[in-house]
Amino acid sequence: MKPFFITTPIYYVNDKPHIGHAYTTILADVLARFHRNASEDVIFLTGLDEHGQKVQQAAERREIGPKAHCDEMALRFLDLWKKLYIKNDDFIRTTESRHISIVQTILQKVYDKGDIYEDEYEGLYSISEERFITEKEAESGQYRDIKKLKEKNYFFKMSKYQNKLINYINENPQFIQPEHRKNEVLGFLKKPLGDLCISRPKSRLSWGIDIPFDSNYVTYVWFDALINYISAIGYHSDNANFNKYWPADIHLIGKDILTTHAVYWPTILMSAELPLPKTIFAHGWWLHGESKMSKSVGNVVDPLELIKDYGVDPVRYYLMREMMLGNDANFTMESFIKRYNSDLANDFGNLLSRVSNLLVKFFDSRIPPFEDDSNEGKIIKKNGMQLAKQVLTQIELMKVNEAIEIIFQFIRSVNKYLEIMAPWKLVKSDIKQAGKVLFTAAEALRLSSELLSPVMPNRTSIVIKTLGVQKTSLDWGGLNPGNAIKKHDVLFPRIDINKFEEKKTSEKKSQLVNIITFDQFKNIEFKTAKILEAEKVDGADKLLKLQVEIKDQKRIIVSGIAEFYSTTELIGRIVIIITNLKPATIFGIESQGMILAAKEGKVLRIITIDNQKVESGSKVY
Ligand code: MSP
Repeated sequence: MKPFFITTPIYYVNDKPHIGHAYTTILADVLARFHRNASEDVIFLTGLDEHGQKVQQAAERREIGPKAHCDEMALRFLDLWKKLYIKNDDFIRTTESRHISIVQTILQKVYDKGDIYEDEYEGLYSISEERFITEKEAESGQYRDIKKLKEKNYFFKMSKYQNKLINYINENPQFIQPEHRKNEVLGFLKKPLGDLCISRPKSRLSWGIDIPFDSNYVTYVWFDALINYISAIGYHSDNANFNKYWPADIHLIGKDILTTHAVYWPTILMSAELPLPKTIFAHGWWLHGESKMSKSVGNVVDPLELIKDYGVDPVRYYLMREMMLGNDANFTMESFIKRYNSDLANDFGNLLSRVSNLLVKFFDSRIPPFEDDSNEGKIIKKNGMQLAKQVLTQIELMKVNEAIEIIFQFIRSVNKYLEIMAPWKLVKSDIKQAGKVLFTAAEALRLSSELLSPVMPNRTSIVIKTLGVQKTSLDWGGLNPGNAIKKHDVLFPRIDINKFEEKKTSEKKSQLVNIITFDQFKNIEFKTAKILEAEKVDGADKLLKLQVEIKDQKRIIVSGIAEFYSTTELIGRIVIIITNLKPATIFGIESQGMILAAKEGKVLRIITIDNQKVESGSKVY
């Protein structure tokens, strides 16, 4: 059997999976299912990226160990993949020992070869961000606590492989796809390629894989993460398996991680003397309301909600049908419902109910014996005989949306054929011919369902069961005369657009509780203020007494932030306060205002606009 190895990126364990993540995994799943159906020996790998600063910090905030944190977060992905009917063959987590040991093996190999060197880096370091920032970033005023820092680190000689990589890309046109992404990478490689810093001192970050030749350092997350593609299939631990599946057939990625996959990864592999993956395919983004879906923008679509409301297959179908691979696509509920109702309920679902109802009513719930040899019937058969080849050609070209469209054109042509032949009338005048028409329509339906099964594994299996089909075949003629028709539920119940609109309106209304009018809002006065002094309040652990300056005026504010800030770190900060709040006496001190802060669980941060060239006393809108 021909091996076929396909991967998704490994997802950041901290993220709550959204439609964008679900898309990559469904796409890989659909491609893997097509290749399995073609009797290939498929390995479909996905997993989780679990090291790094953000994971360490999230665990600290939750006051649990980082591994325990990852174990809990991993469940969100595992649960979603199960609900989405993802049939992956392996699931790798970068905290597993099978991965850690291979990252260290590769690091040692590359180091022994002389491709890793130690160097001191001097740059601007933002303590709040915990990373080096550029001069431009520093000037933007968005970063606090900036200092010049000299740090020793390990660097991978990526630059050494620049020309070799350029040649490889030029000689292997299938390596980076689609074409415009290849050109993007070649454009990037026109500038001199720097070396890659692949270590982080443990004093700054401990949640990572130890560098084997220096225990004071851990591995940079990307160097760690990319290696999952070979650690999972047995590099250095199961050579037979590794040699069978490597190089990977497709690394499926989103366009935002093109450089890491098409530049970092190949140069690491070159240094480790391993072959490069056959294809890196970068798809576009799912946008929602014109911007990339992301938690910080707050425009994420939760796939679990969609599955709960409309079922898993329509979600898989929509994502696969709506995105032209390589381009961005816009997720809207309106287009989801439109696709659902027109393609799934009308075209596909309707074909099944027409055929099965007539067979139950007039043919004793059995598939009739002959196929239609009229001209119209022959055309359906001829197109049906070519269908699988056409569809699989599009899949080879990674044009899943077009493959689906070809199947739906066929389904629509069968519905038209039924309208022309009108077997519901024919049953009265020529029952034999009516049977032939229904046989041809049922066979066309069977074939379409088999071809759609990688996209919609659940509902297509209902069709297959209804038609009593036992053996899968992508050739015309797989339907057995005499098969008993089984009862089935409506394949895709129509979504009532009015009910959907009503639900949306009532949800909007429920979000509008506790609203204030613009006039009420206008009455609240927000201003910037500079903290001049801060001291603890006697007898109150949580309170600080702050003296703030609002332009040329001074005020006292008592604030419940003592647990979160030391008195010294507050001095000089520009904060936002409400100035026209009625004064309140707290622990005998009159507080003349309130400082704005954000609180989540056990974390509280005051809202500051330090370094923004804004003086105290400015009005805030
Ligand atoms: N952990 C890295 C990958 C390491 S692979 C060695 C990472 N993880 S991620 O969780 O942020 O993203 C995983 C994938 O989801 C990426 O391919 C990314 O492009 C994709 N998507 C995230 N949001 C997306 C959309 N809104 N639309 C489509 N795909 C998007 O990057």
